[in-house]
Amino acid sequence: MAATSKRLEGKVALITGAASGIGKCCAKLFAEHGAKIVIADIQDQLGQAVCEAIGLSNSIYVHCDVTNEEDVKNAVDIAVSTFGKLDIMFNNAGIMDPYKERVIDNEKQDFERVLSVNVTGVFLGMKHASSVMVPARAGSIISMASIASSIAGVTTHAYTCAKHAVSGLTKNLAVELGQFGIRVNCLSPYAIATQQATSFLGIDEESVENKANLLANLKGVTLKVDDVAKAALFLASDEAKYISGQNLFIDGGFTIVNPSFNMFQYPENT
Ligand SMILES: NC(=O)c1ccc[n+]([C@@H]2O[C@H](COP(=O)([O-])OP(=O)(O)OC[C@H]3O[C@@H](n4cnc5c(N)ncnc54)[C@H](O)[C@@H]3O)[C@@H](O)[C@H]2O)c1
Repeated sequence: MAATSKRLEGKVALITGAASGIGKCCAKLFAEHGAKIVIADIQDQLGQAVCEAIGLSNSIYVHCDVTNEEDVKNAVDIAVSTFGKLDIMFNNAGIMDPYKERVIDNEKQDFERVLSVNVTGVFLGMKHASSVMVPARAGSIISMASIASSIAGVTTHAYTCAKHAVSGLTKNLAVELGQFGIRVNCLSPYAIATQQATSFLGIDEESVENKANLLANLKGVTLKVDDVAKAALFLASDEAKYISGQNLFIDGGFTIVNPSFNMFQYPENT
C-alpha cells in the first residue's frame, strides 16, 4: 500500500472533544483518510467550524456532553442514522483540575468533575459504541489516556487517577470485546501545547513546548497534536488489525526511565 493512500476509506468515526486540540487534528486527519466524521463536543461553534473545515458532506457536529448518557447515546445514534454505522469510537474529551500542591487543598467537586469527564465519559463512549459494534462484529475503540496513566508526580491527583482508570478500562473492555473482533486501545501522549496544557500551566504555547522539551527524554523534536493524531489513525486503521488491549505511549521514552541515575549522559561537546 502506498504511504499516501487513504487508510480509513469507507469508515465512520465518532470523536469526542473534537472541537479543539488533539481531537480536532484527529478529525481532520481521519477525514483526509476517507472517514466520515461525527464531531462530538460541548463547544458548539468551534465544533461546527471544524465540520465546515472538513466538509459538511462527510462530517457532522453533535452537541454531546460526555458525562450525560443521553448525549452519548444520541451521538452514536447520529453516527448510525447519518452515515450508516460506527467503525471507530475515539473517546478523546478530557479536562484537568487546578493544580494544588497539597491534597488537603483539593476540592471534592473538582476531583469528581475530572473523574466524571475523563472516566465516566470514556465509559459511556465505550458502552454506547459497543451497543452498535457488537452486532456488527467489528470496530476499533480508542480512548485518550496520558503519561499520567503510568507514572506519578507529573500532574494532579484527580487527573492521574482518571488516566490510570482509562488504561484499566481499556484492558478490561479489550477482554470483553475480543470475542466479537472489536479492538480496544488507548493513547498516552507526553505534554502537548493545546488549550488544556496552556491553561493548566498558565503559560503560552511556545513556553509549554520549551518546558516540555527541556524535560523530555527524546531530544531534538517537539511533540505536536498531529503526532498523536497519526498514532490514533494507526490504531483506527486495519493496519492495527491484531492490536488490542494496548496503551500506546507517544512520549519519546519519557515514562520508561527514572532519570535520577543519569547513566548515559554524554559530555556536552560530543
Ligand atoms: N495536551 C496535553 O498535554 C495532553 C497530554 C496527554 C493527554 N491529553 C488528553 O488529550 C485529550 C484532548 O485534550 P487536548 O489537549 O486536545 O485539550 P483541549 O482542551 O484542546 O481539548 C479538549 C476538548 O474536550 C472538550 N470537552 C471538555 N469537556 C467535555 C465534555 N464534558 N463533553 C464533551 N467534550 C468535552 C473540550 O470542549 C475540548 O474541545 C484529553 O483527554 C487530555 O486529557 C492531553
